Amino acid sequence: MHVETRIRLCGAAAPLRGGLLRSHRTRRFALKRLIDVCGASIALLLSAPVLLVVALAIWLFNGRPILYRSKRVGRFGEPFLMVKFRSMVPGADLQGNGAIQSQDPRVTRLGKLLRATKLDELPQLFNVLMGEMSLVGPRPELWRYVGSFQGERQQILDLRPGLTDWATLVNFDEFLLLSSVANADREYVDRIRPVKIALQLKYLREMNLRTDIRVLLHTAIKLVVRRWLPSELRKFRQTLKGSLMKAIQEKSQLHTVPFCLPDVTEDAIEEVVSVLRSGWMTTGPQVGELEAALGRFVGSKHVLAVNSCTAGLHLALAGLGIGPGDEVITTPLTFCSTINVILQVGAVPILADIGPDLNIDPRSIARLITPRTRAIIPVHIAGLPCNMEAIWELAQTHNLKVIEDAAHATGASYRGVRIGGGQSDAVAFSFYATKNLSTGEGGAVVTPSEELYDRMRILCLHGISRDAWNRYSEKGNWHYDVVECGFKYNMSDIMGAIGIHQLARLDEMNARRAEIAQVYNQAFAALPEFQIPAGGVLGEHAWHLYILRLNLDRLVIDRARFFNEMRERGVNCSVHFIPIPLHPYYHDRLEMRAPCTAALDEYPRLLTLPLYSAMTDSDVARVIEVVREVGARFKKQTPVAVPALV
Ligand SMILES: Cc1ncc(COP(=O)(O)O)c(C=O)c1O
Repeated sequence: MHVETRIRLCGAAAPLRGGLLRSHRTRRFALKRLIDVCGASIALLLSAPVLLVVALAIWLFNGRPILYRSKRVGRFGEPFLMVKFRSMVPGADLQGNGAIQSQDPRVTRLGKLLRATKLDELPQLFNVLMGEMSLVGPRPELWRYVGSFQGERQQILDLRPGLTDWATLVNFDEFLLLSSVANADREYVDRIRPVKIALQLKYLREMNLRTDIRVLLHTAIKLVVRRWLPSELRKFRQTLKGSLMKAIQEKSQLHTVPFCLPDVTEDAIEEVVSVLRSGWMTTGPQVGELEAALGRFVGSKHVLAVNSCTAGLHLALAGLGIGPGDEVITTPLTFCSTINVILQVGAVPILADIGPDLNIDPRSIARLITPRTRAIIPVHIAGLPCNMEAIWELAQTHNLKVIEDAAHATGASYRGVRIGGGQSDAVAFSFYATKNLSTGEGGAVVTPSEELYDRMRILCLHGISRDAWNRYSEKGNWHYDVVECGFKYNMSDIMGAIGIHQLARLDEMNARRAEIAQVYNQAFAALPEFQIPAGGVLGEHAWHLYILRLNLDRLVIDRARFFNEMRERGVNCSVHFIPIPLHPYYHDRLEMRAPCTAALDEYPRLLTLPLYSAMTDSDVARVIEVVREVGARFKKQTPVAVPALV
């Protein structure tokens, strides 16, 4: 209201008004009004069949309402409701996020066609008849820009806004132009509006009957020949394109935050170099040292370093003798390798469901146990330990083996005991490139059972009775026996060297992850568009991943669009995980005893934000800024009751 009054008063005091000049302008405006009324009436009569067909098509394909009213800045800064054919999904019009986006998912297919042909603007002929608009005049701005009519720009408010003008011709493809910039709203205000205003002032200076006829003729040509532009407007177009090009270049210099970066120190690099110089690269003393250190760290007697977590899981299943005819219960929200290893030993994966913390729900495990069940593989998703007490109890009651997939949980604890030091038969860790402890590729499997350890050690290297170090070192013996058909899963000393240094820093690196997770939690907890992750007991979560859940009922976009909006702004996210039943390979190979409804329901909401120890404070601040910006831009507004016109 305040802005409105100020504009009206300033407009009234404009120096252009007064005396002779005023009467001349009044006559000119009267003539313009007469032409508007006649022109709009004729145009409405001629286009009546088109108006009817379009109205019918919207009613049939998109439903009602057929028209949509948008609050715009009218003459003298007065608000008015501009009418258009509705091009968005019902209700989207009320969500109030502007429309400066060519790819706006709310625009229907029919809407796209109407927008491309500009037929959606046709109902504005009624605004012209009502005296709110002219045939020719500056396009009416969205009401939210009312405050920007300052200084020289106030003169534009002397005019009735129009269907078309010079600026309309230059900005014919405004939506397209803005689709490549990061912040369409900002670039519109900073780069497009100044050019528009310059053209609107040009029109104001030149305004007469001849100019209006030229603008109308040029608009008609432009509707047919899109690339064409009268020569006098070309320099404005150049300025506009140059300015937007700058915006695109600036976007490429955005503060980008990768999804993950390794955290490797110089001493680890030097250690790798010295391994390379040592003459021994495969499994040897470095791997031995890593195994011993990891055993002390997690509190497990037997540690086997391998070349992946997948290898560790496979060795555990094979080592425990799980095979054809057996069933293994696991979670649907995991990486494919958890399932693949079950299939690879010939057993049947049975999918339970998840609980509110995204981890496997022990109650759903209990419902799936049959006489054929041999093992449970819980996955500590994101680094949050599962409810192991309940799982161990089930295992004990039904005589089942427990193999923990701790790919995300290196360094996490459960009830004060490190993951790996508990009661499970085996626990597999991943040292993959993105993991809390990384050796590029790599992993380890730990077990309290000497028997299982011995079997896994043999299976790990082709089923050979002794490893290469024992055969080729000075004290070694050339002879070996193949006692099983094993795999090639051993870790190299190059990886071992990196692992030793990473393990020494693991608590420190995990503390940094936890610190970042807490900063994220504080930033997002109060925002209704998001649900922050379940935290677990302080200090126990490994915070491998920060899985933010989108409250989709509070947003006008889906997860895919949210992901892209984040990437557009330089923040790279990921999704953990696509539920197992959704992968085509498993369709015929999984016996779905119960629907994993919770996992399937949660999946469309999951968005993993960057979280790694090498993140700087400014990276973290940038992620928060971008999540908030995207959330605010696409949040669902409380619908305002706007009556439908038809
Ligand atoms: C839950 C889960 N299990 C197993 C794995 C396999 O780990 P690796 O790549 O070390 O085999 C991953 C990998 O990301 C994982 O996320």
